[in-house]
Amino acid sequence: TQTDGLTVERTLVLVKPDGVRRGLSGEVLRRIEAKGYTLAAVELVQATPELLERHYAEHVDKPFFRALVDFMLSGPTLAVVAEGNRVIEGFRSLAGATDPTTAAPGTIRGDLGRAWDGPVMQNIVHGSDSPESASREIGLWFPAL
Ligand code: TYD
Ligand code: MG
Repeated sequence: TQTDGLTVERTLVLVKPDGVRRGLSGEVLRRIEAKGYTLAAVELVQATPELLERHYAEHVDKPFFRALVDFMLSGPTLAVVAEGNRVIEGFRSLAGATDPTTAAPGTIRGDLGRAWDGPVMQNIVHGSDSPESASREIGLWFPAL
């Protein structure tokens, strides 16, 4: 990603079922907007196994995959398309490291994430990790966009 000039991007953010259950949807949206990104789409979605197998296709062979899907099916997810200059990298930075135990304070996962529930990390949010992932994931969660 270029570090100079204007690179307006879109990224897929998910407030996962743990975040929605704990009433943290507004807090996540607040942090996205406070950073200066705009919300292009927001929708509460009950995920399906088919959607999650496609969303997490890179992880289908991992030992945690089944538990991850079960967790993501455990309640509604808030799907968000956020837009702005270098938002893909920028939201990953706001989210913090994958493991909430070691995610830096100041990040969403570091400030709000619980450690584990059984075999799966409960880390509040998902954010796309590249322009290719972002466009693929936005197409999955918002087929009309
Ligand atoms: P990953 O894509 O590696 O992390 P990120 O969400 O930071 O891009 O993994 C996807 C999700 O899978 C992660 O958010 C939580 C879960 N997960 C586990 O439960 N255990 C693990 O060991 C890993 C690597 C991920
Ligand atoms: Mg990932």
